[in-house]
Amino acid sequence: MTTHTIRFLARGAILDVADAPATRTVLQHLRESQGCTGTKEGCAEGDCGACTVVVGELDSGGELALKAVNACIQFLPTLDSRALFTVEDLRGANGALHPVQQALVDCHGSQCGFCTPGFVMSLWALYHAHPRDAGPPSRDEIAAAISGNLCRCTGYRPIVDAAERMFDYPPPAFDRDAIRQTLVSLRRTQTFEYRAPDAFGTPAFHAPVTRAEFARLRAANPNARLLAGSTDVGLWVTKQFRDLGDILFIGNVDELKRIERDAQTLTIGAAASLEDAYAALTADYPELAELWTRFASRPIRNAGTLGGNVANGSPIGDSMPALIALNAELVLQKGDAMRTMPLDAFYLAYQKTALEAGEFVAAIRVPRPRADLRFRTYKVAKRYDQDISAVCAAFAIRLDDAHRVTHARIAFGGMAATPKRAANAEAALVGHDWTDAAVRAAMDALDTDFQPLTDMRASSAYRAKVARNLLRRFHLETRADAPLALADVSAFAYAAHAPVSEEQP
Ligand code: FAD
Ligand code: FES
Ligand code: FES
Repeated sequence: MTTHTIRFLARGAILDVADAPATRTVLQHLRESQGCTGTKEGCAEGDCGACTVVVGELDSGGELALKAVNACIQFLPTLDSRALFTVEDLRGANGALHPVQQALVDCHGSQCGFCTPGFVMSLWALYHAHPRDAGPPSRDEIAAAISGNLCRCTGYRPIVDAAERMFDYPPPAFDRDAIRQTLVSLRRTQTFEYRAPDAFGTPAFHAPVTRAEFARLRAANPNARLLAGSTDVGLWVTKQFRDLGDILFIGNVDELKRIERDAQTLTIGAAASLEDAYAALTADYPELAELWTRFASRPIRNAGTLGGNVANGSPIGDSMPALIALNAELVLQKGDAMRTMPLDAFYLAYQKTALEAGEFVAAIRVPRPRADLRFRTYKVAKRYDQDISAVCAAFAIRLDDAHRVTHARIAFGGMAATPKRAANAEAALVGHDWTDAAVRAAMDALDTDFQPLTDMRASSAYRAKVARNLLRRFHLETRADAPLALADVSAFAYAAHAPVSEEQP
């Protein structure tokens, strides 16, 4: 096998790494191999943002895209042919602080400072994404950019103030085009294969660039661990110390990141990031906007993929209820053979899907919106940002001109061993007028659809009650007479327009 070194741009030079285990994290590399200790470790599971770095890569148009990610759960070989930026890169001439850092100092945005490098890098990504001539980013935009960063002593107001002021300082030099050119020169045209020296006993890391080669490798190595954004798999290594065996990385296959629309279908490549996938989904279904912002955090959504969310099939995953309610289907590929399957048929049992050995999820196909569809999705969790759902619900119904329910698709996460439809509640609605009485009958039917578990997130009784009440809320928002506006039913719709609180989330 031809093996390569891991090549990437760091601190203004091209770095070759040949001796790291394939599952060495970017954070371990920075702190332990490079002595770059500005990037901190808090949780080692993507939750706190202390390790936030920015990765530069070429987007589908060949432009440089800068994305904040969590270094603690990204494996080093995934950096190949990309650029890595850390807080050490921000030092200007004569040690001058970057505007993001200077604004944090001037606004008193740091106390113990442990969280600060992570905030700096999330804000640095925002600094480069936000058009300079558009005025400061809004406080909502800033809150979204730092949704993955926890601060336990300063509080968020001064940090948000600093982000509003970071454009007030003279911009430091940043040669985007030179970085882009370097990435063009680093770009692989054939499979990148990496294997650490035998002494580590570590697995091989395969990163093909074409879909055909990816499919061939997947079929030829059915036991290799498919790796996408690493936001589930990374934790298996950092928290469970699992040995992954050989790894097959999907993140270099541009064709599998494509998002396309025709009159009937929105097709999202399995390797599209959650951020890109939700941008496309929300353009079709604005009802998904809150779920998008509440799905993990910006750095997790930059790295994680929709295909990974669907394939992992967690019973508490957030995308599946909405996609099932919208009647999405999966494109599954094995070698050259392709098949499609409704998403609700994909989940067989707890952590068991219909994927065959050597097969992978190639795309998620979502029907385009219809005028007669009423659709909502709700996430119930203990925190607004960066929290796993206790219950996630999605409701989609179609009504005829007489307001009779002609179609109903209701799906829940957190209520069963898999994401699951509420067949009895659906049956209680179809053919009935969309009235309070029909909804009450469907709420009772929900009790026969699910016997939820009690765990650390919620009790069984709580989950059952929440599920019933969310169905009622859906009716209140979509009934023909006096439907309630979002602001009347959602505390968050109000909170989004209130001043940012100094309290911790
Ligand atoms: P990976 O971790 O790379 O892979 C996950 C699994 O899917 C692996 O078994 C992998 O082999 C398989 N896989 C990946 N792609 C494919 C494919 N194309 N075909 C076949 N198999 C494939 N999830 C939520 O739903 N809601 C949340 O709010 C949320 N918050 C999170 C917060 C944190 C801090 C973290 C660390 C995770 C969170 N997650 C959440 C879970 C995770 O981010 C999602 O499940 C994510 O979509 C996984 O995608 P990935 O690309 O990172 O998958
Ligand atoms: Fe907490 Fe990485 S160390 S997110
Ligand atoms: Fe101490 Fe933020 S300044 S955690």
